Amino acid sequence: MAIAATLLAALLAVGAQATPGPNYAQYVHGGHYMNYTSVPGYFLQDDPSTNASTFDYTAVNFGLINRTYDADDTCRPGEHLTQWQRFEREVLRLNQESPKNVEYKVIWFGRHAEGFHNAEQTFVGTPAWNCYWAELTGNSTASWADAHLTPAGIQSALVANAFWKHEIEAQKIPTPGSFYTSPLFRCLQTANLTFTGLPLPKNKPFIAMIKELLRENISIHTCDRRSNKTFIHESFPSFRIEEGFHEHDPLWNGVTAETESSEDVRSRVVLDDIFTHDCNTYISVTSHSGEIGSILEVLNHIPFSLNTGAIIPVLIRAEALSPKEIKTTTTQDWTASAHCTVPPVSSVDNNGPCACPSSAAPVTTPLIPTTPP
Ligand SMILES: *[C@@H]1O[C@H](CO)[C@@H](O)[C@H](O)[C@H]1NC(C)=O
Ligand SMILES: *[C@@H]1O[C@H](CO)[C@@H](O)[C@H](O)[C@H]1NC(C)=O
Ligand SMILES: *[C@@H]1O[C@H](CO)[C@@H](O)[C@H](O)[C@H]1NC(C)=O
Ligand SMILES: *[C@@H]1O[C@H](CO)[C@@H](O)[C@H](O)[C@H]1NC(C)=O
Ligand SMILES: *[C@@H]1O[C@H](CO)[C@@H](O)[C@H](O)[C@H]1NC(C)=O
Ligand SMILES: *[C@@H]1O[C@H](CO)[C@@H](O)[C@H](O)[C@H]1NC(C)=O
Ligand SMILES: *[C@@H]1O[C@H](CO)[C@@H](O)[C@H](O)[C@H]1NC(C)=O
Repeated sequence: MAIAATLLAALLAVGAQATPGPNYAQYVHGGHYMNYTSVPGYFLQDDPSTNASTFDYTAVNFGLINRTYDADDTCRPGEHLTQWQRFEREVLRLNQESPKNVEYKVIWFGRHAEGFHNAEQTFVGTPAWNCYWAELTGNSTASWADAHLTPAGIQSALVANAFWKHEIEAQKIPTPGSFYTSPLFRCLQTANLTFTGLPLPKNKPFIAMIKELLRENISIHTCDRRSNKTFIHESFPSFRIEEGFHEHDPLWNGVTAETESSEDVRSRVVLDDIFTHDCNTYISVTSHSGEIGSILEVLNHIPFSLNTGAIIPVLIRAEALSPKEIKTTTTQDWTASAHCTVPPVSSVDNNGPCACPSSAAPVTTPLIPTTPP
């Protein structure tokens, strides 16, 4: 009964506070409404029978299925091509044979490796993490505001680096022509460790581009608040930062959280931006579990939940339809997230409302000052 009452209080608090979602018009520069489809049959990760929780991209050639392609007919007799070289020819064929308004791209989506916020969530359990600890910036020994990689996280980013090196040498894999990353520190570190020092072609060097809209779904957790632009630039001086990137985080507010539908709008805006302005066929995106999940949804890909540090390529067919209307970039409302002022007794489910001890009903006022870092 006490728990039911607290839950009700939480739900009322949530219902009482909502803020209009941000307007992403500044990120829209012309273009068309795009119809995205992920093309099945090429990768294990778009087969519903593949288990994402045990999927190891390094054991299965990034998931590329061993098969023949229509483009194999163009191979010369005696020519020995790797699976990835033949796949590259197949993608070339698809692009050559499609109408002008259709384009195929291959994007590797990499989830950042383990950060201190992931370690803390495992340490305290998801309900206590969501309802209390995640709203703080750290404990007396660890910090998880804009979390950095743990030593284990650094190791798995180096595994990714070694695997890319192997794929370039053994598979002659086509390498990305662009390297986009979320502005959150764990992604910057992951992209840096993954792609620095690889034997990349001279005309396709590793130059990272930071994009605001590739960040994680924006909750009231301090791991979803980014650092200021000056700090990002000083930490990763060789990374480029997209035009219009604000000095201070314009999106995190510590009270309301992005909803799934508003995150999908954001994902579509950033995909449209990439598909409209980037002529590379092969692209890398370093982002987060929630955000990659949202992008996969917009791409009509089956749900595929990446482990920390995992990487999956996706073959995408994009068809440009009617010219885009700017007004569609205003997102759905954001809703207040109730949390506890002390660690909670429990939570209905891992992502459900918080059940705080009765002396500390859920609140929506931030536990920490929300002045920008
Ligand atoms: C988008 O593409 C898919 C697959 O190619 C097709 O089934 C669907 O009808 C298209 N949607 C629109 C709005 O054209
Ligand atoms: C996927 O693998 C995990 C870990 O081995 C297992 O617990 C889970 O049941 C599997 N899921 C499916 C759908 O087979
Ligand atoms: C494709 O075949 C090679 C060996 O011939 C194997 O190592 C690899 O795991 C196979 N890939 C998939 C996705 O089955
Ligand atoms: C802080 O959290 C880390 C896990 O993220 C844990 O190992 C450590 O023991 C915690 N420190 C205190 C003082 O609770
Ligand atoms: C970027 O990666 C290089 C190569 O692994 C490493 O030496 C450097 O410390 C990294 N920089 C940051 C800021 O993590
Ligand atoms: C930017 O962030 C860094 C690290 O958090 C901080 O030391 C610095 O004071 C901030 N700069 C501004 C202008 O707020
Ligand atoms: C945000 O991402 C987390 C996983 O990191 C997920 O558990 C949560 O449901 C997502 N929330 C929304 C609103 O998409």
